[in-house]
Amino acid sequence: MYPLRRNRRLRTTEAVRSLVRETIITPSDFLMPIFVVEGKNIKEEIASMPDCFRFSLDLLEKEVKEIWALGIKSVLLFVKVPENLKDNAGTEAINPEGLMQRAVKTVKNTVPEMLVMTDVALDPYSSFGHDGIVSEGKILNDDTTAILAEMALSHAQAGADFVAPSDMMDGRIFEIRTLLEDEGFYETGIMSYSAKYASAFYGPFRNALGSAPGFGDKKTYQMDPSNRDEAVRETLMDIDEGADIVMVKPGLCYLDIVRDIKNVVNVPVAVYQVSGEYAMIKAAAEKGWLDHDAVVLEQLTAIKRAGANIIATYFAKDAVKLLS
Ligand code: PBG
Repeated sequence: MYPLRRNRRLRTTEAVRSLVRETIITPSDFLMPIFVVEGKNIKEEIASMPDCFRFSLDLLEKEVKEIWALGIKSVLLFVKVPENLKDNAGTEAINPEGLMQRAVKTVKNTVPEMLVMTDVALDPYSSFGHDGIVSEGKILNDDTTAILAEMALSHAQAGADFVAPSDMMDGRIFEIRTLLEDEGFYETGIMSYSAKYASAFYGPFRNALGSAPGFGDKKTYQMDPSNRDEAVRETLMDIDEGADIVMVKPGLCYLDIVRDIKNVVNVPVAVYQVSGEYAMIKAAAEKGWLDHDAVVLEQLTAIKRAGANIIATYFAKDAVKLLS
């Protein structure tokens, strides 16, 4: 009771503030998404994501060395698939010589200690821009999970440490886990996008990969932003099916979900600060309306405070530099 308690005593100097600080972000919290493209000597900036690039494999080597030196120890790979290789069956997704499979090998050959996670979903490979196989305007669930399991296996065979299914089909964690076990990949982890919402914040990412849905939207598989209990249900099911790490996506608008999940699970929780969240900060900072660095650190801290053990963020490099 005031004046016996004056809360400002614990805020008087940076020394005392740092002594009582509850949440501290560090470089090992970050998982860095990286976009990969076919070709040579390519480092092209993504128009809707300033300072974020698509790399050809030769330049990916350089990037990976650089981020390892900065203290970033995990990457999440995404590939931009040439249009002529897209179909409605995920054929290219399981090509052992596909871009993702070569990207995994490139990272592992360059920095063997780097933790490599791969995106598992059909949208970059789909002629319809959907995360699953399409039939008569519908996204087929079980046909899709079968191919996702094969895709995950092919990433594991290429050397991926973790596969990260981002598609939101029912039962895909079970299918993937079962196939990995059957094939002897006992140590391959699964980071499941468990509570992934049908969000408008993915727009810039879809530009980056040229993977926007050709018809309709993703609301029959990604979650309704209005729902909260469902996120817990989805997440608990993924853990039962064999997920090692669960994820909430997007980040900032969904931190209530992060806390709900954190309160009931006992596996690590990841949060994906997505492309639209990134783009908003970049755009406002470009206009001089926000202090870029301060806002980045504040948002990442808020994500961790909400309960994230792992943060997938396009700001990983910025944040690590700012923290050092
Ligand atoms: C696709 C996938 C998406 C993202 C990650 N994996 C887009 C989507 O679901 O349409 C979005 C990431 C971002 O916006 O940064 N399976």
